[in-house]
Amino acid sequence: MSEPRHDAPRAEQAPGAARVQDDPAEPNDAFTAFWNDVLVPKFERHRNILLDGFTHHSAVPLAKLELPRGARALDVGCGWGDTTIELARKAGDAGAAVGLDCCEAFLQKGRADAAAAGLCNVSFIMADVQTFPFAPEFDFAFSRFGTMFFANPVAALRNIRRALKPGASFMFIAWRAIGDNPFFDLPKKVVSRFLPPPGDDARNCGPGPFSMADSAVVAAQVRAAGFTDFHRERVDGEVMVGADLAQAVAFQLALGPAGEIVREAGATADACRSEIEAALADALAPFVRDDGVRMMSSSWTYVARNPAPDAA
Ligand SMILES: C[S@@+](CC[C@H](N)C(=O)[O-])C[C@H]1O[C@@H](n2cnc3c(N)ncnc32)[C@H](O)[C@@H]1O
Repeated sequence: MSEPRHDAPRAEQAPGAARVQDDPAEPNDAFTAFWNDVLVPKFERHRNILLDGFTHHSAVPLAKLELPRGARALDVGCGWGDTTIELARKAGDAGAAVGLDCCEAFLQKGRADAAAAGLCNVSFIMADVQTFPFAPEFDFAFSRFGTMFFANPVAALRNIRRALKPGASFMFIAWRAIGDNPFFDLPKKVVSRFLPPPGDDARNCGPGPFSMADSAVVAAQVRAAGFTDFHRERVDGEVMVGADLAQAVAFQLALGPAGEIVREAGATADACRSEIEAALADALAPFVRDDGVRMMSSSWTYVARNPAPDAA
């Protein structure tokens, strides 16, 4: 759902994730700047896709989630905060939900939506998840597609664990591999017929949407970060990738693996933009339905626990 690095993510290139467990937590300044400068405007243009279109992947695990009344929940990389609001509702008036994200523009929408819903138990913090000085005050932490962009995933996961009370769980949703997500894979293949892959120097938002696709790597990362009881559940389903064919083409040109190729190609992409648009329209036309352009997708819902002292 976000601007990708590409489908050869950092985590898969460094399977010994535990090797980085003692790295100091540095801020993700270049990545968070990229989110704010490059991605926020593109996300805003395609909010209907990124929120409503992808909701299936959080709706499935959250439908089964019960929070004790009065619980405090943290939403990591919360974006516009729709899931923060959902967590606040589950926690009830005596509880609270806090959404944390590095983009103030997203959080402003979250604050407005929470106020419009008459909720007083929602708040938002603009910060870098990897370095924010959390206190162990949360009964539950959650993230939908917000954990795949950290320079140092183990340091970030360890920092998220610091936010949790002993025994509390972290549930986080990440895309499975690009080959399991045709709505990213097919447009990337189409665009690759016209343009070269992004170079090694491409500016990006972090390791990328598929960096937590390999659950063995993620298992090692969460273990290195001090979590226990790791497990995963696969969620498959259609995503809505455009209200109509025109938006589906525009979305792919702006975001995701195809969008990164186009952006990095610059003037070369501009020169053949109409051919690329036509080829994307041809490829996506079979997926047009009465209620938008719909394609298959697949994610993991991962859950891990911050051990209680006697279980550590
Ligand atoms: C793919 S979006 C997901 C947003 C939201 N959870 C959703 O599902 O709509 C990833 C989010 O993570 C945020 N993010 C990325 N790196 C971050 C960091 N180091 N600290 C805080 N937020 C970060 C981005 O600003 C963005 O809102």
